[in-house]
Amino acid sequence: METMDQKFLSSWPNVGFVPESFVHPPEKRPGNLVVRPCKTFPVVDLQDDDRTQIIQHIMKASREFGFFQVINHGVPGKLMDDTIRVFKEFHAMSAKEKASECSKDPNRSCRFYTSSEKYATEEVHVWRDALTHPCHPLEEYIEFWPAKPTRYREVVGEYVEELRKLGQKILELLSEGLGISPSYFRGGLSGNPVLLVNNYPSCPDPSLTLGLVRHRDPSLITILLQEEIDGLQVFKDGQWIGVQPLRHAFVVNTGYVLQIISNGKLEGAEHRAVTNSSVSRTSAAFFIYPCKDILIEPAKALTNARDPPLYRAMQFEEFLKNFMSRSANAEPVLQNYELHAQQMKQ
Ligand code: OGA
Ligand code: NI
Repeated sequence: METMDQKFLSSWPNVGFVPESFVHPPEKRPGNLVVRPCKTFPVVDLQDDDRTQIIQHIMKASREFGFFQVINHGVPGKLMDDTIRVFKEFHAMSAKEKASECSKDPNRSCRFYTSSEKYATEEVHVWRDALTHPCHPLEEYIEFWPAKPTRYREVVGEYVEELRKLGQKILELLSEGLGISPSYFRGGLSGNPVLLVNNYPSCPDPSLTLGLVRHRDPSLITILLQEEIDGLQVFKDGQWIGVQPLRHAFVVNTGYVLQIISNGKLEGAEHRAVTNSSVSRTSAAFFIYPCKDILIEPAKALTNARDPPLYRAMQFEEFLKNFMSRSANAEPVLQNYELHAQQMKQ
């Protein structure tokens, strides 16, 4: 078992069982529960002529689900297909190649790992391999991205530039919907987008393990590109619901930073990924993060004497450090914030 654990998941020989270190406790497992795709999952057409209508739609979806899919978003379908193809090619390379392609950056901003970055200390592993690297400014980071597959930098470079534009568009709609300045999220607050390419190999028993445990993203928003394979689930009204992939659509979700800035008017959405027994699934999350030294705090326009700030101001770097040290469980981090806010009120 140990030798298997040491290799990257996607490079394992076909195993007929889930190793114990990947088996989640019964209350956290997906079990045999069939999660049906949700027919009313919001789909927002970004080319709708009526901008007010788009904003209302996005706000309703963000309040009720914390999630929506976007279509007619302006990113060419061919570029989306090429990008997924390159990501799949990357994950299909040998373990040695993947590791060496991600070891050029002295700051280790480009990384490749199985399960999570806390593999050595986490209690249970998840069934995925991940490649991650920053995206902006492109010139600063692209030289540390994988040079193999040979088209990686060209295709992914074009892709992340498109995603930055799409991200700005969605953030502008959200800021208008919240009633803050349309330029609020521009600049440093959305200045550090990071790409995370997940690969969930097919799993001998998907009922025992998870691709990603229940979590909220520490981002403003996250824009997900995925293959047309089920796996993403959203926790809503005490139940897990499946997100049915739509061809050439992106899945957008709200993150914790948006929760803080909106002073709780929108919440970071809870979600997870499950595996399946027949095919591997690749997805790529584009997390819109603030730059490290940027102060995140409830927008002044959204707080007043009756609606005081729920969270204290904190540099993004500090927030992320607290968040990560708690295994991506932000509840205690937020409780800290809330406690602090209460103390300030007293
Ligand atoms: C993530 C995430 C979902 C998926 O990477 O944070 O939630 O379906 N991914 O891969
Ligand atoms: Ni996520």
